[in-house]
Amino acid sequence: MKLVAEAFAKVNRSLVVLGKRPDGYHELDTLFQAVGLTDRLTFEESDGLTLDVDDPSIPAGAENLVLRAARALAEAAGIRPRAAITLEKRIPSGGGLGGGSADAAVTLLGLSALWKLDLPLDLLARVGGALGSDVPFFLHGGTARGLGRGERIEPLPDLPPQAVVLVMPPFPVSTPAVFRRLEAPAWDGRGGWALGAGDAPDRNDLEPAAEALFPALRDVREALERAGAARARLSGSGSTVFGLFPDLAAATEGARRLEGLPAGSAVRIVPTLSREESRSRSAPRRAE
Ligand code: C5P
Repeated sequence: MKLVAEAFAKVNRSLVVLGKRPDGYHELDTLFQAVGLTDRLTFEESDGLTLDVDDPSIPAGAENLVLRAARALAEAAGIRPRAAITLEKRIPSGGGLGGGSADAAVTLLGLSALWKLDLPLDLLARVGGALGSDVPFFLHGGTARGLGRGERIEPLPDLPPQAVVLVMPPFPVSTPAVFRRLEAPAWDGRGGWALGAGDAPDRNDLEPAAEALFPALRDVREALERAGAARARLSGSGSTVFGLFPDLAAATEGARRLEGLPAGSAVRIVPTLSREESRSRSAPRRAE
């Protein structure tokens, strides 16, 4: 049997850092949004565990999140990890779009199907959350609030569809480097914004630190603002900067007006994904 599934990307509509925790992580209150930029994974029965990646810049060795997800799932189920996995990368790595985490989440879903496991979603979320803070979001998709390290997910009702202009600079950004640069005060245990996606503030607290490390990111954000984006923000710790537009036509016009981007930047226009659209993309199905 061979299964195929797509791993969708995310942007952070809002990202509030509440403070630094004793374990070194940062307590967050973030609003995730699934978007239609996808990697493609296939899962096939095999005697061993292998991963074939079409992008040579992505490490395909044991540290790859896909292989770590496969081993963690097999361990949780008490079986040996046997699968031949392929990964076609379209989501840039180090781009703040959650590409590696999305691949890990889809691996949990794909291998659960291949191995005919019947594990509850909260167990998959626990396994995923141990692999990376963003992984549990990708088991839900749509619009969702992320608390704790970002791994505690509260799904929210879908927001009206929007078109997103993604500007992906030609350099990756290291997430730990941005969090270090932030020098956040100790978390005092207080919460973030009140419930309801509409109340999420138009802010990303990682932006000043990332822009101090890479001043070009600020130029991109300001270019998106000048091009008419309703909201222009860094996604996660970057390097992708996104602009929200009401529809495809407005986004296309906005993208046409972008000026002064770093040489080699890639610009993509993608739709936001509802929860149902997210899930139907990441659901494993039989390959032809
Ligand atoms: O959880 P994940 O492995 O994706 O996190 C990568 C790094 O980002 C962590 O090692 C940590 O330095 C930083 N981080 C953080 N607070 C978070 C999430 C990530 O400090 N909530």
